[in-house]
Amino acid sequence: MLLARFGRRISSETRLDNLLSLIAEEVRHILQADRCSVFLVDPNKNELWTKVALGMGEKVLRIPLGHGIAGFVAKTGSAVNIRDAYRDTRFAQDLDKITGYQTKSVLAVPLKDRDGKALGVFEILNKTKGSFNEEDEGFLRILATIAASAIENAQLYENLRKSHLETIYRLAMVAEYRDQTDTAKHLRHISKYSAIMAAQLGMPYEVVEDIRYASPLHDIGKVAIPDSILLKPGKLTPDEYEEMKKHPIYGARMLENAETRLLQLACRIAIAHHEHFDGSGYPNGLRGEQIPLEARIVSVVDVFDALTTRRVYKGAWSLDETFRYMQDQSGRLFDPMVTDAFIKCTPQVQAILNEEAVSVAPEGQA
Ligand code: C2E
Ligand code: SIN
Ligand code: SIN
Ligand code: FE
Repeated sequence: MLLARFGRRISSETRLDNLLSLIAEEVRHILQADRCSVFLVDPNKNELWTKVALGMGEKVLRIPLGHGIAGFVAKTGSAVNIRDAYRDTRFAQDLDKITGYQTKSVLAVPLKDRDGKALGVFEILNKTKGSFNEEDEGFLRILATIAASAIENAQLYENLRKSHLETIYRLAMVAEYRDQTDTAKHLRHISKYSAIMAAQLGMPYEVVEDIRYASPLHDIGKVAIPDSILLKPGKLTPDEYEEMKKHPIYGARMLENAETRLLQLACRIAIAHHEHFDGSGYPNGLRGEQIPLEARIVSVVDVFDALTTRRVYKGAWSLDETFRYMQDQSGRLFDPMVTDAFIKCTPQVQAILNEEAVSVAPEGQA
C-alpha cells in the first residue's frame, strides 16, 4: 500500500525540483530515516549534484563521481550500508561540514535508468532507531526503481520545456533586436515585472510562469515594421504611427492558432497590449474587462519599461516621473486594479533595477 501511494504521489509530479523534494520526504518517512538525499549524475561534468537545505534556503552541492559514499555507489553500482560513517574511509565529510549535520548510519543504493545506466544515488541517513538492515535495503532498492522512472520522466519533460522556453526567448530576441539598446535587459524586465504583477494579483503559479515566458513576445509584430519607422530618431508622422500601430495585428498573425497554451497566451497579449482601459487604445478599441487581464498587466509593464529606459526617440524618465505618470493614467490607459498592484510591487521593481545597476559595473568590481 505504501508503495502504491508512493508511486501515485511521485508520478503526478513532473517538475524535477518538486519531485526530488517529494521523493526525499516520502522515503524518509517510509524508512524512518532522519534524512534522504537524492544525488543525480551530471553526465556533462562527471559529477553528482544534490540540493541541500541550508538555513532558510537551499544550495546545490556537487561532488566528483567516485568521491564519498554517494560517489562510490554511483561509480560501482553497488549499495552501501554502514553503521558509522565516520569510521568508513569512503565517507566524505564535505556535506556534513557544510550543513553542520552529523551523519551516523548511511544506506545508499544506485538509481538506474531503464537501460541500467547510472542516473544517480539514493541515500538515507541516520535511522531513527538503530541502523539500517537488509529489509531496509531491499525496500530502498524498490523505491529507487520507482523513483528512477519518475525522475527520468521529469528530466525528459524538463528538457522539452527548457528547449521550448529557450526557443520562445530567442524568438523574442529576434523581435526586439533592432530597436532596443539592450535587448536582453528589456526582455528580462518585461518578463520579471509581468510575473511579479501576476503573482501580486493572485494568479496561480502555473499562470504566473506562463506569463513570465509569454510576455517577452508581446512586440514580436515589430519585426514587420520597416527600419525607417521603427528606428526613426524623432517623432513619427501620423502615417508612420498608423503603420506602427499595426504591430499588435502582425504579432497576433504570427502567433495565432498555436497549439501550446503558452503561445496562445502570447497571442492574447500581443494583440491587446496597446488597448487602453478607457477604450481609447488600438487595434480594436476594447475597454475594461474586454481586454484580457494578462494584456492589461503587460500594458502597464511595457509602458513602465518604455518610460524608464532610453529609446531611439526619447530619453529615460526618472522613476518618480514614471510612477506619477502611471498613477495619473490609472483608469485611462490602465486598469486601476493593475496599476495599484504595480505600485504595491515598487520594492520588487526597485530591487530588479538595482540588481541591474550592479550587474553593469565594470568587471572585477561587482
Ligand atoms: P515602445 O517604445 O515600446 O513604447 C511602448 C508604449 O510606452 C507606447 O505605446 C506609449 O504608450 C508608452 N511610451 C513610450 N514612450 C513614451 C513617451 O515618451 N511618452 C509617453 N507618454 N508614453 C510613452 P505607443 O505610443 O502606442 O507606441 C508603440 C510603439 O511605437 C513604441 O513602443 C515605439 O516602438 C513606437 N513609437 C511610438 N512613438 C514613437 C516615436 O515618436 N518615434 C519612434 N521612432 N517610435 C515611436
Ligand atoms: C558521502 O556520500 O560520502 C557524503 C555525503 C553524505 O554525507 O551523505
Ligand atoms: C526567459 O528566459 O524566457 C525569460 C527572460 C529572462 O528572464 O531573461
Ligand atoms: Fe507594443
